Amino acid sequence: MPSLTEISPDQHAPPRTKGPELAVIVPTFNEHDNVIPLVDRLQAVLGGIDWELIFVDDNSPDGTADAAWDLAAQYHNVRCIKRLGRRGLSSACAEGILSTNAPFVVVMDGDLQHDESILPAMLAKVRAGADIAVGSRYGGEGSSGEGLSPIRQWGSTLATRLATLVAGQELADPMSGFFMVRRDLFVDVAPQLSAEGFKILLDLVVTATRKGTAPAIAQVPYVFRPRHAGESKMSPLVVLQFLGLWLSKLSGGVLPTSFLLFALVGFSGVAVHLTVLWLLTSVVPETFLLAQVAATIVAMTWNFFLNNSLTYADRKLHGAKLWTGLLGFYVVCSMGGVANISIASMIYEARPAPLIAGLAGALMSSVFNYAVTRIFTWK
Ligand code: GDD
Ligand code: MN
Repeated sequence: MPSLTEISPDQHAPPRTKGPELAVIVPTFNEHDNVIPLVDRLQAVLGGIDWELIFVDDNSPDGTADAAWDLAAQYHNVRCIKRLGRRGLSSACAEGILSTNAPFVVVMDGDLQHDESILPAMLAKVRAGADIAVGSRYGGEGSSGEGLSPIRQWGSTLATRLATLVAGQELADPMSGFFMVRRDLFVDVAPQLSAEGFKILLDLVVTATRKGTAPAIAQVPYVFRPRHAGESKMSPLVVLQFLGLWLSKLSGGVLPTSFLLFALVGFSGVAVHLTVLWLLTSVVPETFLLAQVAATIVAMTWNFFLNNSLTYADRKLHGAKLWTGLLGFYVVCSMGGVANISIASMIYEARPAPLIAGLAGALMSSVFNYAVTRIFTWK
């Protein structure tokens, strides 16, 4: 890998009389060893184009931002936004895009998995009138090459099908993290985009379509490469966040992703509750009431920690706030439990259908718990 001093400043960039035409947005988390090779490669393919590079780093512990700022000291067209106290790929991309006035922006991973050599072709597409040019791993001769494990390959295919369903148009690779877009289109839909998860392209297409006109999308195939250095941040959490986003889009955005995740967590809590109850009562059958109390506490604790790292990953509580948050959560959920029972018995009195009454009670308490903890616990 070349060292900083081996890279000569870019003397071939066209003279700057106005802002750049293309902004390359690179979200980073622990990509220290990748930033120099990335700039090298961009230099090699973007000759003759007036471009800038914006790293958006979420305070990576490995010092990625320092490495990016070192580069910024050498190149007039490189800068780095360092965000404190926040995490998230989608929101990092949005912030980078909103920090430039280049008419075209491209989002690209910082780990060299995206093939930069297709950038001129993508630019040609948007210059020619496409709203979005997607770097597609499946379309045409593009493929996911060596970059994905079989499990991820399968998950990716499934996600592609689900995504095409909500996007309203056929997309070869709606899960792509590599796409170029007209800046004004992005700015227009940005307020409605979800800040959570990895799937900003899908969100962009669906949101723009719902606002009126389906964006004209061009696809440019490429081969997804293995990661250069460091580790992937893809996790089960990211997958669940994707499912939440998908359901939210399917509901026409009426149900927020966080509510759907909250409800999903609630469901898992019911399973935990019943398991604990069953275990305790099969050991000591006489103590049903005590077992029920214990199961409730275990399930509430489970729900709290799962919501803290999944539903509210972007505002996760730590340290003392974690414990006061847990206590507050117990209080809110107990109130939710009272709401559940009162609504259910009210409905049952009017019409003795236990299933409907039970469901209405459960729905009432989840909406209540969601709304109140959103205000007091995860503000
Ligand atoms: N600022 C910021 N904050 N950057 C992040 C964060 C975050 O919380 N999480 C990940 N990144 C950065 C990484 O540093 C990398 O540059 C890029 O986002 C992609 O992250 P990876 O962890 O390498 O993701 P991946 O390779 O598993 O996923 C890729 O393929 C997916 C489809 O399978 C990405 O291109 C995804 O966007 C794409 O959907
Ligand atoms: Mn990657």
